[in-house]
Order: sequence, then structure tokens, then C-alpha cells
Amino acid sequence: MYFHCGNVTKIIGIISGKGGVGKTTVSANLALALKKFGKKVIVVDCNLSTPHLAYYLGVSDYKYTLNDALMGNVEMISAVSSSDGIRYVPASLQMSDLSGISLANFEKNLKTLVNPDKVDYIILDSAPGLGKEALTVLTACNEVIFVTTPFAPMVNDVMRCQEILRKIKGTKTIGIVLTMTTNGVHEMSPQSISKLTGAPVIGEVPFDRNVTYGLVSKSPIMNYDPDSLASIGFMQLAANLTGKEYIVPAKMKMYKLMAKVRNTLLPAKVAMPKSIQAVKEDIFIENK
Ligand SMILES: Nc1ncnc2c1ncn2[C@@H]1O[C@H](COP(=O)(O)OP(=O)(O)OP(=O)(O)O)[C@@H](O)[C@H]1O
Ligand SMILES: [Mg+2]
Repeated sequence: MYFHCGNVTKIIGIISGKGGVGKTTVSANLALALKKFGKKVIVVDCNLSTPHLAYYLGVSDYKYTLNDALMGNVEMISAVSSSDGIRYVPASLQMSDLSGISLANFEKNLKTLVNPDKVDYIILDSAPGLGKEALTVLTACNEVIFVTTPFAPMVNDVMRCQEILRKIKGTKTIGIVLTMTTNGVHEMSPQSISKLTGAPVIGEVPFDRNVTYGLVSKSPIMNYDPDSLASIGFMQLAANLTGKEYIVPAKMKMYKLMAKVRNTLLPAKVAMPKSIQAVKEDIFIENK
């Protein structure tokens, strides 16, 4: 169990090295999965330069945005909108709303959302990479979920993120969520990813076309198809975070079994590194 929430408001930063790996998908659907476990959640779009959260949640009828809060027009608590029981703070789609905002005001503003009686989790959907927006999220959060696809270069990105976290005040744990996995032999296993990074893999969301079908239907996968493999992955992640029991549906077990059979009967013609040391050499990590 990671990031278990007692009577505090936990702030989780959703971070990645590469763009397009599924952070916003994780942010929106983790919020919905946590809600299914009875948790009170606010999800905040911290990707000010390319905001997508509202679209992914399928909402547009909000009054204020994070930009308004950072401009000092309203307190962040007033920029919280609600839809379908999910509370969210969108970022503005207007380019003009990028001027006059100060990220330096973010943490102070975020404190207006912290209220253990009313909010169990605040999820911060970051911009990709480890630039200004991500640094703001890394500084403001208590815990980090590092979202990545299961390919070797991610190890370097996680290590950079860990290095930044060491320099930031306060101890913050980091857990990895693998997205768009296919259980193919060309992918790194969660075990070797954990060994290489020293960070636990706390969730795995299979590649699932329904995620994109939901997206274009303006409905997050947890609502669009709660029985899909991706939704099961999000429920497993939320169960892991909250320490609640979740019985993994047979569908997921069957999917994993089929992947094993496929890997045995139709082995992919790829030369994968044979050991952790070989992976390190492959991605230029020095042997210490
Ligand atoms: N498990 C999945 N299976 C299939 N497609 C997925 C999955 N997760 C995300 N996607 C798709 O991948 C694309 C990128 O996802 P998303 O926008 O969540 O990434 P992101 O990391 O937030 O991107 P950015 O770095 O630009 O903010 C979207 O089209 C989304 O539908
Ligand atoms: Mg995003």
C-alpha cells in the first residue's frame, strides 16, 4: 500500500519524462477510481501550456480556471468546479491567460484546497518533462506518481526526477505507473524497472483502444467502460493507494494469460538485454 491517506489531504503529483505517455488519462481516471473507493478528490490541471484535463473529463461548464487563481483574481478554492461528483480545477484554453500568471503563487494557492475533512486527495496533472511546470508540481506535492511506458530510457528520467526530489525540501516517495503496456517480450518487466530505479511499480494500465474511444466520446474510460482492461488497471492502482480490497476481475487474469501464451507461441524477434547490468549498459548508466 502506498500513499495511504489518514486524516490528511494527500497531494499527488502526476509526472513524466516524455510527453503523451498518459498522465492526463491517469489523473482523470485515478480521480474517478478513488471516488469509487469513497475518497474525496480534487484534480488540478497544472499543464498550463497545453491543458487537456477538462476535455479528458468531458467538461466545459466551468467558471474559473487555475490561471485566474495564479493571476490573483480568485482563490484556488473558488476555481474548483464539479461534475459527476468529481471536483476539478481546469486550466485556461486561452493563450492570453498565460500572461500575468505566476507559478510562484501556486503552492500558497494550493493550500486553500487542503482540508482533510473535505478532501482526501489532490491530484496534480503536470506538463511533461522536468521543466518549470513540473518543478512546481514536484515542489507542491507530497507524493509522486511517475507515469511511463515500459521502455528502458524511462529509467534515466526516473533517476533525474529522484535527483530533483532529493534537492527539494521534505521527503517525497515516488511510485511508477506503467501505461499502455501489452505484456510483450519487448517491454521491460515491472520487476526490472523497480530494480533499476529503486522505485516501486504501483500500477499498470494496459494498452486499451477503449481509452481513446472514451476520449473522443468525451467520457473518461472509468465512465465510458468500467469493465475495460484500462479501468481495471485504474481500480487496481486506486486500491493500492488507499489500501482497500479489490478483487481483480477474471478478464484481467485471462488477458495476462493470453499474453503469456502469445509470447511463447509467437516470440517477437527482438534482442532484449539479458540482465539488469546489460540494461544499464544499454542506456548508458554507469556501473557503480
Ligand atoms: N492505457 C491506454 N491505452 C490506450 N491509449 C491510451 C492509454 N493511456 C493513454 N492513452 C492515449 O494516449 C494519448 C496520450 O495520453 P495523455 O494525453 O493522457 O498523455 P499525457 O502524458 O497527459 O500527454 P502530455 O504530455 O501531452 O500532457 C491519448 O490519446 C490517450 O487516449
Ligand atoms: Mg497531459
